[in-house]
Amino acid sequence: MQIYLSARDVRKTYGSHHALAGASLELYEGEILALLGPNGAGKTTLIKILATLLTKDAGRIDVMGYDLDRDEQEIRHLFGYVGQDTDRSAYARLTVVENLRFFGALRGLSRREIDEQIEKLAGYFDFGANLDKLFMHLSGGQKQTVVIMRALLYDPPLIYLDEPTKGLDPLIAKKIRAFLQTYVRDERKSLLLTSHILSEVDELAHRVALIHNGVISAAGGSDELKAAVGAPHLIELRDADLPAEISQAIQQLDSVTGQIEREPGWASFGLTDPQLGTEAVLGLLREHQLHVPFRLHTTTLEDAFVHHIGVLNEQFEK
Ligand SMILES: Nc1ncnc2c1ncn2[C@@H]1O[C@H](COP(=O)(O)OP(=O)(O)O)[C@@H](O)[C@H]1O
Ligand SMILES: [Mg+2]
Repeated sequence: MQIYLSARDVRKTYGSHHALAGASLELYEGEILALLGPNGAGKTTLIKILATLLTKDAGRIDVMGYDLDRDEQEIRHLFGYVGQDTDRSAYARLTVVENLRFFGALRGLSRREIDEQIEKLAGYFDFGANLDKLFMHLSGGQKQTVVIMRALLYDPPLIYLDEPTKGLDPLIAKKIRAFLQTYVRDERKSLLLTSHILSEVDELAHRVALIHNGVISAAGGSDELKAAVGAPHLIELRDADLPAEISQAIQQLDSVTGQIEREPGWASFGLTDPQLGTEAVLGLLREHQLHVPFRLHTTTLEDAFVHHIGVLNEQFEK
């Protein structure tokens, strides 16, 4: 698959603060990539640089064969961007259609092109019933939908969304995610979105890039990122009740991949198969007549995130 967007070693400082300390990522044709990281990680800074709203200090960005340093004008036609200021991204006293026609005309589209595009987008976003309402009379989720539609009017191949569901109630957020998913798939778009919500990213993204302190530590499918933690399934035994020699013996079992550190107070063992592994570990405890509190755990994206940040910190310390 083709790489549509590539960012290499992008740096940005605000005064003496390094918001981006060498961030790199690739966005492929037809994929949804989520840039996942906590507040202050550098997500907005990076997406604004990609959207040509902010200049980078260093690094290289290529978009579909164009170099951002040289071909900014060409690149501006290749993406639609939605930032975080939804209320100020449309006119309160115009209807949805009036807003979209206005912004479409600004982009140089003909009335017919605009109306065809509005009809198509309203279909994807199930928005036909709201088109003649005033923007100021819409709910938060509906406003966000209009702003997304505005960004898609000229049919750009790339879409950049900065926390598209921020501040929306969970049901509306889910609906917007579902619309985006269908739209991206059917129209063969590439979508880069930022988020700090792990479950959202797990549900929506084909690949995830983990960003922390202005550095992207890992990118991959969420299963891949989870696999790096050690195993998809774990059995966890209360540390205080687990003799060291039993811990050793558990690690020797065929169905156990090894021990990992996940949470203080618990010894976590990776399992090749959750059923067989659990039976083997519990069997071993029974043989030694030990009663150790245990629980089963399925590796989450949060575990992956913590793991990768741990790896990152180790690299810093070296
Ligand atoms: N205009 C600015 N001036 C100074 N510092 C800023 C500015 N914008 C962002 N920062 C700082 O840069 C870091 C990254 O911010 P940002 O890219 O907004 O992160 P995120 O979107 O992941 O929350 C944060 O520490 C933030 O406080
Ligand atoms: Mg942000």
